[in-house]
Amino acid sequence: MAEIDHYTPADRHAVDQMYRRVFGPDAAEANKLRWDWQYLRNPNNAAGSPEIWIAREGPTVVGQYATMPVRLHVAGRDVCASWGMDVMVAPERQRQGLGEVLFRTWDEHVGASLGLGLSEGSYRLFKKLRWPDVGPVPCLVKPLTRRAVRRPSWPMPINRLVSALTLPLIRLVARSRPVEGELATIRRFDDGFTALWESVAPTFDLAVRRDAAYLNWKYAEPPHVRYNIVVLHGIGPHGATAARGGAGLPRGYAVYRHVQEPRGRVTLLVDFLADPDDPDALRALLRFVDVEAREADSDKIRTFAMHAGFRHALKKAGYFQVKSTMEFVAKINGSPVPATFYDNKDRWHVTLGDSDQDR
Ligand SMILES: CC(C)(COP(=O)(O)OP(=O)(O)OC[C@H]1O[C@@H](n2cnc3c(N)ncnc32)[C@H](O)[C@@H]1OP(=O)(O)O)[C@@H](O)C(=O)NCCC(=O)NCCS
Repeated sequence: MAEIDHYTPADRHAVDQMYRRVFGPDAAEANKLRWDWQYLRNPNNAAGSPEIWIAREGPTVVGQYATMPVRLHVAGRDVCASWGMDVMVAPERQRQGLGEVLFRTWDEHVGASLGLGLSEGSYRLFKKLRWPDVGPVPCLVKPLTRRAVRRPSWPMPINRLVSALTLPLIRLVARSRPVEGELATIRRFDDGFTALWESVAPTFDLAVRRDAAYLNWKYAEPPHVRYNIVVLHGIGPHGATAARGGAGLPRGYAVYRHVQEPRGRVTLLVDFLADPDDPDALRALLRFVDVEAREADSDKIRTFAMHAGFRHALKKAGYFQVKSTMEFVAKINGSPVPATFYDNKDRWHVTLGDSDQDR
């Protein structure tokens, strides 16, 4: 019978070996590059140690559940939550109940257990354990060139026909619009972003706390990806200066990067924040990202957004909602929420930047 306890530094080699066996050598190499940053340097680690559960049989490691602790703003309170990320069971011990024990142990120790972008196995296991299924997180795409609508599964003549037919619409949607507002690119987030978060948090029913420490760790310091960050300063409508904090404070930010995919070049709008009641702020940030995407020669911009207000602003800016595969489960333990809490996600702010989806 396996025992579950906390990860210790002495487990590192055994966990690396198991990761290689379960996920393959390429994923294992990528995991090694991220590991210290992802697990040791998370500013939300309690007592500075990573939140990883290990299943052992005697001296042998046979499973792990590695999680990402976050502060979660939920129903007006902050709780200690975590994203479940790298869960694995040694191949010869799978489908014998160990995963279930790991999931339950993790859940018993957190104020909210969250899962994003799940594998088939873990999604089924979450369902079996009756975690509220609140996903998927809607995906939105803004086409910029005729290549944006190509599909690898279609023969080239069909792709050409669809490109030709949709070109007038794409040109209309992708036309340049003036960039307005006090926008600047930055490399790090200062304390003004904590003030921005504090001021907008009450407008969300559920969102990870995006304070400066979290944002720097997540978007300025990761070793495996390089992000661009744009900030909007200035005075919003209704005199809502910089999220009600003052003219020097940020009114919003967007985090993005450009990637080459088999179907073409894509700008990923990974994360963003502004007051949902200040749609001009998000619009200004989106226009800046449009310009950057065009300069990077991207065929489209892709983002994920759960909040209804943000999705509305995105659609007004030329984004279309497409099928999403980013499944999302959430279970709140540390704050009393009614069963109906999971039914209306219009005021939940979840993006591609959450958990470790963008890696
Ligand atoms: C996902 C994983 C951690 C589950 O651990 P486990 O010990 O095999 O799971 P359990 O035996 O406790 O639970 C089994 C339940 O999980 C689900 N499940 C597990 N693996 C599955 C798979 N490959 N396909 C479909 N469902 C699966 C089923 O609901 C299953 O119930 P059933 O056996 O009654 O059909 C394990 O299978 C694993 O390491 N998989 C490979 C790595 C992986 O995909 N990790 C998830 C990354 S997000």
